Amino acid sequence: MKLIIDDANLDTIKGLYEYFPVDGVTTNPTILAKEGKNPYEVLMAIREFIGPDAELHVQVVGKNADLIYEEAHMIRKRLGNNTFIKVPVTREGLKAIKVLKKNGFPVTATAIYTHMQAFLAGKAGADYAAPYVNRIDNLGVDGIREAKEIHDIFRNNNMATEVLAASFKNSQQALELAKHGVGAATISPDVIEGLVAIDAVTHAVDVFIRDFESFCGKGTNML
Ligand code: E4P
Repeated sequence: MKLIIDDANLDTIKGLYEYFPVDGVTTNPTILAKEGKNPYEVLMAIREFIGPDAELHVQVVGKNADLIYEEAHMIRKRLGNNTFIKVPVTREGLKAIKVLKKNGFPVTATAIYTHMQAFLAGKAGADYAAPYVNRIDNLGVDGIREAKEIHDIFRNNNMATEVLAASFKNSQQALELAKHGVGAATISPDVIEGLVAIDAVTHAVDVFIRDFESFCGKGTNML
């Protein structure tokens, strides 16, 4: 399962890249707005940092297929061919996904709340489909189960589309999806940090150091 950062703050992204085995960055219009700068300025800095081959997912804002197509061209022109165009799976979005795939764009179908949206996005040729786990939970439906079932729908129908699970509230949810073999999860910085912020682990490491120092002296190590 790829692990992708769902954020647009360059310092935060740099910090996570230094410590975690991450595979790219996703953004959405809300995440970009939080940076309070020109969106392309933010995105170009991210692209420069992660390199031309890393996955960067950028969402369109237009609501009709023609505008989405134009936005995709601008995104590709400014951020490179390897930039996934995130398209919400609406009626117009599906039309746009079909056209984008015919023209060689990498596409992430997004704003997925239902199995049927994901299935249609897969049939339209999307590379990724992003079910919003936490937001689905908030509708009274089990978001993790739905993400797993969408993965199964793709495999059972011989579709190459991968699940890019999104909208997490805790690290356990990401682990559940890794166990099921979903393709990718995009996770906010605080939830990524939570993947290793485990009190029992911190305690175990502290005990190792304490025991070593009790024998070899305070501040010693294996040097
Ligand atoms: C990713 O594709 C989504 O834009 C994002 O994960 C939504 O997360 P949220 O529900 O926490 O806003």
